[in-house]
Amino acid sequence: MIADTDITPATARPTLVLGVTGCIAAYKACELVRSLVKQDVRIKVVMTQAATRFVGPVTFRTLSDEPVTTSLWDDPGSSAVHHVSLAEEADVMLIAPCTANVMAKLATGRADDILSATALATEATIIIAPAMNTHMWRHPATRANLETLRSRGVIVVEPELGELACGDIGEGRLASAERILEVTQAELGRSSDLVGLGVLVTAGPTFEPMDPVRFLGNRSTGKQGYAIAEEFGRRGANVVLVSGPTSLPDPFGVTTIRVNTALEMQAAAECVYDDVDVVVSVAAVADFRPEYVAGDKIKKEDAPDTLVLVRNPDILAGFGADKGDRFLIGFAAETVDVLKHARQKLVAKNLDLVVANDVSEPGAGFGHDTNRVVFVTREVDEHLSSMTKREVARRIADKISARVSKMP
Ligand code: CTP
Repeated sequence: MIADTDITPATARPTLVLGVTGCIAAYKACELVRSLVKQDVRIKVVMTQAATRFVGPVTFRTLSDEPVTTSLWDDPGSSAVHHVSLAEEADVMLIAPCTANVMAKLATGRADDILSATALATEATIIIAPAMNTHMWRHPATRANLETLRSRGVIVVEPELGELACGDIGEGRLASAERILEVTQAELGRSSDLVGLGVLVTAGPTFEPMDPVRFLGNRSTGKQGYAIAEEFGRRGANVVLVSGPTSLPDPFGVTTIRVNTALEMQAAAECVYDDVDVVVSVAAVADFRPEYVAGDKIKKEDAPDTLVLVRNPDILAGFGADKGDRFLIGFAAETVDVLKHARQKLVAKNLDLVVANDVSEPGAGFGHDTNRVVFVTREVDEHLSSMTKREVARRIADKISARVSKMP
């Protein structure tokens, strides 16, 4: 339970893997290292070959008091595969400065140097602080890469307006050290704030069969639920994701159980319920299923005129009736009277929080990468601006984190 003292406080020195890429702003990374070392952050610097033309590895080695890696072929002094061991050690990976070229590599999943291979192998949050010429920053290719990276949960510390190394004045100058440090410290704080917490997430639609080839389903893609499961997992929680049919891969660091129907989802969720502190019920569970499921495909001449449906159990309401100390979060996807319906669900299902959204709004709900939600609790409604589903996931995890940190 959340109140238990077995939630390990994050006291260990956090590890930041700092990627430095080939751009004149590379020298500013030295200042970042100095500041973070003073705050007792362990820093492992990884440089591209181009970066070493701007700043020598010895500088970073001296400032961080740790070995610096510049090649996939550097010997880490152990049998470990170096980019994998660095990736595993990272609580957060910061790439500052990040060139347009490295952004493109990250967006396409290339891994042809130590920095991009480490970024591909890590489950830690990645922060990038781009720095480049204005035209490169505004180029549609860079914009597309930026969107891809954001949708995957990469945090972007946007460059600033100012004088650039090429003499132009415009957007593209590396963000200030203060801003980069602020974002990095917040993410380091988040990297293990939910260690020891048991979390159950349900996600995706359920498919209710009529015969071996036909089913009743809905438009849920599972994106929001998967983002939530991954966010909790990344922050140290023990997460079980019970997922209806989706085309998404299993999220990193999460135990995923795949089911098809509402009854299967209920059975799988109930199996883990005793061991969890938090339930986030994002699944678009079908409220009804066909009463009879034909063993063979129904031929059209044999099809009945009406389809008889029976009610599925309300999985979350069942958990609400046996809540204990758990924190229960429901979702309410509505098209009218969003807040009214969300409040009704909060009370009827005995929940602590309902994440409400109007799925008829453009850019919100099923299939989109963004969402505009309202957090509805018994005390207050909190309206959030339109944001990525990753960011919604982060805000939900932050709510739980704030609750955990208030526990004695
Ligand atoms: N839910 C559930 N089991 C169901 C139906 C819903 O666990 N059989 C959960 C959903 O995961 C969500 C919340 O209950 O967290 C609200 O689901 P929603 O489909 O919005 O509402 P319903 O309660 O089904 O009511 P209605 O369809 O009338 O809006």
